Amino acid sequence: MSLVEKINNLKKEKNAIILTHCYQNVEIDEVSDYVGDSLYLSQVAAKTDADIIVFAGVYFMAQSAKILSPNKKVLLPNIQSGCAMADMIDVNSLKNFKAKHPNIPVVCYINSTAEVKAECDVCCTSSNAVKIVRSLNAPRVLFAPDTYLGNWVAKELDNVEVITFNGFCPIHMRIRVEDMNNARKQYPNALILAHPECHHDVSNIADFVGSTKEIMEFARKSDNKQFVIATEKGVVDRLNRDSKLYNWGKKFILIDENIICPSMKNNTLEDIYETLLNETNEITLDEEIIKKSRLCIDRMIELSK
Ligand code: 13P
Ligand code: SF4
Repeated sequence: MSLVEKINNLKKEKNAIILTHCYQNVEIDEVSDYVGDSLYLSQVAAKTDADIIVFAGVYFMAQSAKILSPNKKVLLPNIQSGCAMADMIDVNSLKNFKAKHPNIPVVCYINSTAEVKAECDVCCTSSNAVKIVRSLNAPRVLFAPDTYLGNWVAKELDNVEVITFNGFCPIHMRIRVEDMNNARKQYPNALILAHPECHHDVSNIADFVGSTKEIMEFARKSDNKQFVIATEKGVVDRLNRDSKLYNWGKKFILIDENIICPSMKNNTLEDIYETLLNETNEITLDEEIIKKSRLCIDRMIELSK
């Protein structure tokens, strides 16, 4: 029996589902129930009837699933799958940031730990950050940890001052304006689609800026035939696979071959099988942290309806 068959059998036997982020190794889709961006996957986690959620993604994503489904067993196939951006802020540095700018609502990017979320007012993801900040109706907002997503939101909203923490994604930071300019020259007919975690100088010259799922939807619906993708390789692999599968006749080019998130690539089919079989790598959280961080995520889900 193949590994894929074994995993699919185990899923049935244990009433488990597998949630997969678009940056995962593309073969993981073969055993996945849902594939998407962090907002979509957290919405699925909030309403699933499964007993076990295997989260093929990084640590903060599995933690968010646990916060939203505290009575379910949430497993992360490879426990080393962290997020370099989420690690840039902890409760102390957040408290210092808040103390420097008192009495201002704090928006927390979902790429953060449960403990950090517990100290913030509302969460957001890359696909709803603008909507969430706008809905606060506040003249000034604190935004943590991603300074570039915060800057992107500020650009989209004229009347809000967005004060950002100084975190960033080291993977998206590798994409430079020079890469964008070279891509324009090399592929003059291509549209360039970028993730808002890119430096704002990069986002500002892209043809479309959106979350991973939004980039994939834009590419699918567009009449254009060629696209340069300024985000993680997993998105390009899925788009090229789908183009072949559904005869789109479209070509997707990764802006730079080094745009690979090593943590996201940690999870393998073998890890998924072992984790589900032995129910290891379970995410556990303090009840008080779950309660407080849940308010932050629930508010986001409510506001992004
Ligand atoms: P999405 O919100 O697009 O899923 O992005 C999450 C992420 O970690 C991007 O680096
Ligand atoms: Fe974190 Fe960047 Fe990897 Fe996304 S791509 S999971 S922000 S390190």
